[in-house]
Amino acid sequence: MADAKKILVLPGDGIGPEVMRESLRMIEWLDRRGFARFELEEDLVGGAAIDARGVPITAQTIARAKEADAVLFGAVGGPKWDRLGFALRPEIAILSLRRELGLFANLRPARVLDPLVEASTLKPEIVRGLDLMIVRESTGGIYFGEPRGIETLADGQRRGVNTEVYTTAEIERVARVAFELARARSGRLTSVEKANVMESGLLWRETVSALAPQYPEVTLHHMYADNCAMQLVRDPRQFDVIVTTNLFGDLLSDLASQLTGSLGMLPSATLGASAADGRRAALYEPIHGSAPDIAGRGIANPLAEMLSLAMMLRLSLGLPEAAVLIERAAERVLASGLRTADIMQPGKAKVGTQVMADAILREIDKVAA
Ligand code: IPM
Ligand code: MG
Repeated sequence: MADAKKILVLPGDGIGPEVMRESLRMIEWLDRRGFARFELEEDLVGGAAIDARGVPITAQTIARAKEADAVLFGAVGGPKWDRLGFALRPEIAILSLRRELGLFANLRPARVLDPLVEASTLKPEIVRGLDLMIVRESTGGIYFGEPRGIETLADGQRRGVNTEVYTTAEIERVARVAFELARARSGRLTSVEKANVMESGLLWRETVSALAPQYPEVTLHHMYADNCAMQLVRDPRQFDVIVTTNLFGDLLSDLASQLTGSLGMLPSATLGASAADGRRAALYEPIHGSAPDIAGRGIANPLAEMLSLAMMLRLSLGLPEAAVLIERAAERVLASGLRTADIMQPGKAKVGTQVMADAILREIDKVAA
């Protein structure tokens, strides 16, 4: 039998552990049904790691993440840790993982499932059938650029500095991921920056353009980030794959998530480069945060974490049929009328985290039978 799939499980804080628990049941099911053997290790990150170990993530956890075939992440952060110094914030856990594992391509799909078309705050005729993919650069740009810091000037004023910086190599590798995705989807790619006011944006545009001849099946468009924000709410279906910088991708992916009506539904993948032996570092996480306001109440939507697991099965573990099984089950259960609080609609049945997960497991049982 093939080697076991090694997964590092990092539930984190808030609703992270609650939604992770349900995804672990899904993994158990896949193991039991013989899709693959899974070897799970679990560790602390974020506030949970700060409380137990004094830091948001340890070097040992990062080493375990490098060893694993993939990392399944929950969420980090909460008011309890908001007053800590910058280097100690729970969010440092995810930034360190991205940086140390070289996870430069953050894939954030925004799909409107038919049963949820009414959950969007936008009109159904604008979002029906929406299926877009934002590829956000995630180890460079202004979140990592130097110089950075807060300094005190001679006149006593303080000055905060961050630097937007991109090299051609950084732009090329994320653009290639986006071109390849676009080629496998509808063939439309939009590259987003502010080339009209930023040199790093101009370099971005030139570098992406220079790659285009290598992908003749892909139609490349360029768009300024402010215009893209506007176009995303005006007519989101004009987009298929969007590739953009760390900062713009952070903003635009939150915006895109709301086109679908629920943050609680959206998965993500963050990928590194493929090594010669075919190994590729990868981390999967729901795009919702730790939602401290609802943590511990058993009402969080487990679907984003489960759909992140599905992305892992497809992109890291070579188990696309298992991914499809989970995605189809999620759609069926939604079509049957079950809703967690975040996607509740009139006339539907409101259920908690566990009941939603039970329904998904029952559904895949049926389909796989
Ligand atoms: C995200 C989050 C993170 C980011 C935070 C938690 C550091 O907003 O994944 O979009 O800014 O990248
Ligand atoms: Mg964000």
